[in-house]
Amino acid sequence: MKNIIKITASLFLIFTLSVSVVSAQSWSVPNLSKKKQNPYDTSTKNISSGKKIYNINCKSCHGDATMRNMLPLQPVAPSDLGSQAFLMQTDGEIYYKVNKGNGAMPTFKKTLNDESKWMVITYLRSFDKNKKVSKKIAEVKNPEVSDVKLLLDINKETKSVSANLTGVTKKGARVALQGIELSFKVKRSFGYLDISGNDAYTNEQGMIEIPFPSDLPGDREGHVNLLVKVTDDAYYGEITVDRIATLGVPTDPENPLDERAMWGTRANAPIWIIVSYVGGVLSIWSIIFLVLFQLIKLPKLAKTEE
Ligand code: HEC
Repeated sequence: MKNIIKITASLFLIFTLSVSVVSAQSWSVPNLSKKKQNPYDTSTKNISSGKKIYNINCKSCHGDATMRNMLPLQPVAPSDLGSQAFLMQTDGEIYYKVNKGNGAMPTFKKTLNDESKWMVITYLRSFDKNKKVSKKIAEVKNPEVSDVKLLLDINKETKSVSANLTGVTKKGARVALQGIELSFKVKRSFGYLDISGNDAYTNEQGMIEIPFPSDLPGDREGHVNLLVKVTDDAYYGEITVDRIATLGVPTDPENPLDERAMWGTRANAPIWIIVSYVGGVLSIWSIIFLVLFQLIKLPKLAKTEE
């Protein structure tokens, strides 16, 4: 009997505890915060910077907006931030939640600045069917395609790189893919330099042209390693093209081994090192010869003693 009482008591305790834990996890957004307005407009540029910030900071858990491929976290899974159900809330509400965090959702109060947070919200808002915003990114109307090809054309005269993105439809026709973001990168000594700018989306012809920076050094012949890819692998998988382009400023790389320095080889070593080394070697050998000379003299000396 006592055992039954103990068991029911502990079950009751566990139940009340878990209820309080769960209720502590739900969001409560103050009314004033809900009314906060997004100070940035829904321009393509803002949406596109928001998308970049989203991909770096949020995508790992929330997946691609509208694709419902979120990380299945416990006890509360992240929402699809492109869904209409989520976008029912005000910008202020979303802003508050991003700052506050909850459970597995980290706080971004210090890790992202205000501008970045509003850019992400601007980007998410572009999926809102009830709001008129730039449709360029949110709704790309491309047919279903296979065999997606990314072609590069390098124009030395205008110093630019153009890319063309196409795919083959089910009926077998090769068509242009529009509104897809591409990233253009140039290989440098340590990592890649992004030269895409803010608005690198293909147009109706599936084309995009990016100016190459006029002051970027290449090798002796001006060669640079160019890497172009479809930014978001979610569309067509990983599509990357790399190419050596003669668009850089020809630069003779300065070899630090050519000058006279501590790390120089042989003849390029500092004079004082050469002098002291040669001096050291000479003096040691002369001492050895001196000793040998004296040794040779010994028998002679012995004879004169007799
Ligand atoms: C480590 C994983 C993780 C990352 C990274 C993350 N979130 Fe979340 N997020 C969650 C989880 C889990 C929840 C659900 C939390 C809850 O409801 O208790 C959530 C909930 C939210 C909510 C509230 C959802 C709703 O339905 O009201 C918003 C808004 C949100 N996240 C925005 C963002 C933004 C914007 C970023 C990037 C700047 C981000 N999150 C990054 C895990 C994450």
